[in-house]
Amino acid sequence: MNRSPFFFLFFLFLIAFSCQKAPTPPDYIIQKSTVSDTAMVVSPHPLATEIGLQIMRDGGNAVDAIVGVQFALAVVYPRAGNIGGGGFMVYRSAEGQSAALDYREKAPSGASRDMYLDENGDVSPTRSRKGHLAVGVPGTVAGLLEAHQKYGSLSWERLVQPAIDLARTGFAITQAETNRLNSFQEQFREYIKPESPFIRDTFLLGHKLVQSDLALTLERIRDHGFDGFYAGKTADYIVEEMQRGEGLIHHQDLTDYRAVWREPIVQTYRDKYKMISMPPSSSGGVALGQLLSIVEAYPLSELGFHSVEAIHIMAEAERRVYADRARHLGDSDFYSVPIDSLLDENYLDTRMADFDVSSAGSSDDTEAGSFTLAKESFETTHTSVVDPLGNAAAITTTLNSNYGSKTFVHGAGFFLNNEMDDFSSKPGVPNQFGLVGAEANAIEPGKRMLSSMTPTIFEKDEALFMVIGAPGGSTIITAVFQVFVNVADFGLPLDQAVAAGRFHHQWLPDMIAIEKDQLSSDVIDSLQAMGHQFRTVNRMAVIKAIQVLPDGKLHGAGDPRNPDDDAKGY
Ligand code: DON
Repeated sequence: MNRSPFFFLFFLFLIAFSCQKAPTPPDYIIQKSTVSDTAMVVSPHPLATEIGLQIMRDGGNAVDAIVGVQFALAVVYPRAGNIGGGGFMVYRSAEGQSAALDYREKAPSGASRDMYLDENGDVSPTRSRKGHLAVGVPGTVAGLLEAHQKYGSLSWERLVQPAIDLARTGFAITQAETNRLNSFQEQFREYIKPESPFIRDTFLLGHKLVQSDLALTLERIRDHGFDGFYAGKTADYIVEEMQRGEGLIHHQDLTDYRAVWREPIVQTYRDKYKMISMPPSSSGGVALGQLLSIVEAYPLSELGFHSVEAIHIMAEAERRVYADRARHLGDSDFYSVPIDSLLDENYLDTRMADFDVSSAGSSDDTEAGSFTLAKESFETTHTSVVDPLGNAAAITTTLNSNYGSKTFVHGAGFFLNNEMDDFSSKPGVPNQFGLVGAEANAIEPGKRMLSSMTPTIFEKDEALFMVIGAPGGSTIITAVFQVFVNVADFGLPLDQAVAAGRFHHQWLPDMIAIEKDQLSSDVIDSLQAMGHQFRTVNRMAVIKAIQVLPDGKLHGAGDPRNPDDDAKGY
């Protein structure tokens, strides 16, 4: 029998099938380390980076670029880039003025202290992490509006439009996104209707993700600003979605939401550096300030990068700082956070009084510090960009877990956060990052949950030096700390400082988390002999940083830990 016509047809079918099914793999150019003369954007996705750069080429400043990038990330980086979450921005103008913007999510008015406890008073492990009850009132759109109103120079419409275009025409998903979307299908199907663009049997590399509902939502935000999200159709969709589960967000929660300008945490390091970082409702700035202040007393550069001595000092500092975080840090609008006392040099000296150079401390014996309250300043409270004028902005935003609570606003096309898990549901009971808390971070209606996000800008000799931040839950603070110290004390070039393996102590559990294969076995053996215990994790926080080099050029570094991190400039 002559089989060739059959095979011919079969091959034709195969070709037609593959043309139809297999999308073109995206040909994004991703750069992890770039040096440029004029402006730089480091973001978690090349399409977003390009949008930020184009905004600056068109005359926009760092805040314009950040706004455009954040809206673009809501489309191309749905795991975390968002309009259904919240975040923080730290800004420094070319003239040296700084500002911090808090657009963290808030507990809905119907939230209550014990809302995640079961009938036995035990924390139900999933209700603060998945589903409608885990969702805090989103702050991102209010935050971006506020940032734009104060510092923006291009029109709001110009900044939102690229995200609308990406959502409407679609974009090819990267390998990392393909893998993530496939691995979350089962969880998505618990909350998301099959017609959503995020539900599919299999996502293939290069699949064109079109988000028509999200495009319409972004148009409402473009045309009506605050009311385009917190009122009208978008708000109706959010409230309807809440009612599909046991969600608590009502219209009033949305219309009441406000982003808040706060006084940044500012602190010097080794006389020449100045840290400008995020105050509560993030713990990031206070904790980073404490860490730097503690290690300033030790000659880290002499001890050497990843030396036993340096790791011992830094990990012991981290232990003490996270103990303080657990007890004293929370939303300063609700709880009197003793910021000045926590950053007081004399207090921080006492914290290391029991430090033993030759043996590990114990978290059982390390309680949060106590002090006589100093007079507090009561007015007190990531993509990295540097623009052609030298203005800098660091913005960290989140849905908390990947794709947040996995709930999706049907009709409006976006994921909602699960930020409520960042509250302390019960004193001493760890959240998803193993962080414990107490009164300071207990749930109250309208309160912001404590964050570890640490968008930070450093000056050196009063000039812009570094713009830095990261996602990574509780490891954000120690990652920003270590990357800065890697550059400032250990003299590593920024890209190596970012890529270098990290270690992390957060008081509880009493052990140092280390990234796999990143510390030599000799170093680990020596630290173990001192009493340190280790656990190995695949990777920790994902840094995006820019350093101003001595010749004034900008060095941007994305993190090899996220394949899509992209640092580009011109
Ligand atoms: O605000 C916080 O500290 C956390 N919700 C951040 C979550 C995060 O970084 C997730 N990334 N791994």
